[in-house]
Amino acid sequence: MEIFHDEVWQMSIGERAAMEGVLCQVKPELAIEIGTAEGASLRRIAAHAREVHSFDLVAPSLELPDNVTLHPGDSHVKLPVLLAELAAEGRNVDFVLVDGDHSAAGVRQDLEDLLDSDAISRTYIIIHDINNAEVRRGVDAVRYRSWRKVCYVELDCVPGYMFKEERLKYELWGGLGLVVVDASRPAYRTTEVLQQRYFPAAPLFAELRDISIARKEDRAARRSGEMEALRKRVAELEQCLTEAEGRANRERAAREHLEHQGRRLRLRAVVEGDADRRGHQDSANFATHSAAISQTAPLTSRPRPAMVFSSAWVMKPTPMPLAMEKVKGIASVVITAGT
Ligand SMILES: C[S@@+](CC[C@H](N)C(=O)[O-])C[C@H]1O[C@@H](n2cnc3c(N)ncnc32)[C@H](O)[C@@H]1O
Repeated sequence: MEIFHDEVWQMSIGERAAMEGVLCQVKPELAIEIGTAEGASLRRIAAHAREVHSFDLVAPSLELPDNVTLHPGDSHVKLPVLLAELAAEGRNVDFVLVDGDHSAAGVRQDLEDLLDSDAISRTYIIIHDINNAEVRRGVDAVRYRSWRKVCYVELDCVPGYMFKEERLKYELWGGLGLVVVDASRPAYRTTEVLQQRYFPAAPLFAELRDISIARKEDRAARRSGEMEALRKRVAELEQCLTEAEGRANRERAAREHLEHQGRRLRLRAVVEGDADRRGHQDSANFATHSAAISQTAPLTSRPRPAMVFSSAWVMKPTPMPLAMEKVKGIASVVITAGT
C-alpha cells in the first residue's frame, strides 16, 4: 500500500493515514497542493480527487495521473492567479494541502491568499510541518477570526515529532494543522474557532526539545567533569607510582651499598684475622730465629746483614708481594756473600 511503502513521500505514516482519511471523507471535486516535491502526496490526493492543481518551484520525479495540473513557479505569484480564475468561474476548492514555502512569511502568505479567495468557501485545508518553529510562527500569525467563514482551526490536529536520527537530531518537523472553512457559517456564531481543549502540541515539543538538549549538554558536561576527575586521579596515581619507584630505587641502592660494605667488612675481618694469625706466627718465627742467631753469635756482636735479611725473610707476608721477591733475591746474594 502506497501510504505505508512510499519512499519519497515526505510525511510520517500517521500523517499519511490522517490525510488519506480526510480525503476519503471529503472526496474532493477540486483540490490544490502547494509543494509538489517528488509528487508522492500529490499522487494520493489525485487518487481521491477529480481534479488537482499542484504548485512547486521544481518539477516532480514521479509519474502523475491525468487529473493533475502542475503549476511550475512561485506559489506566492501563481496561486492567487489560479484562485482568481476558479472564483471567477464560481468554483469551490474542496481540499488544500499547504506544504510549499516553509518560511514563516511564506506559509502565512499561502494561507492568507487561500482564505482571501472566494474559491475557498467549503474547504478543508491541511498544513504540513506545523511542528517546525518557523512554519508554526507563520500559521500562528494568521488572524483566522478575520475570515468569518473560518469555522474551526486545530493546528496540532496530528502532532509532529522530534527527530532522533543523527542527521536531524532534535529538529522539530511534521504534524498536520487543520483549518475548516465553511462560508455558510452563520455570522452570529462568535465562539472561539481555535481548538481550546488541549495544550498546543508544537510549543510542548519545543519545550521538550530544549529540555532534551539541556539534558544532553548537562550529561556531556557531567561526563567531561567525570573525565577531568578521572584524569586528575590518574595523574595523582602516576605521581605516587613515580615516587614509589624513586623510593624503591633509593632503597635498592642503599641495600646494595650496605651489602657491599658488609662484604668489605667481612673481607677485612678475614684479611685482618689472617694477618693476626700470620703476625703471631711471624713473631714466633722471629723469636725462634733470633734465639738461634744469638746462640751462634756472641751477645755483644751486632748481627750481620745476612742475618738481618734472614730474619726479615722469615717474617715475610704471604703471598709475597713483588717487592719482597726482589728483596728475597738481594738477600740471597748478600747471604751467599756473607757466609
Ligand atoms: C516539503 S516539500 C513538499 C513535500 C510533498 N508535499 C510530499 O509530501 O511529498 C516542499 C516543496 O515546496 C516547494 N516550495 C518551496 N517554496 C515554494 C514556493 N514559494 N512556491 C512553490 N513551491 C515551493 C519546494 O520546492 C519543495 O519541493
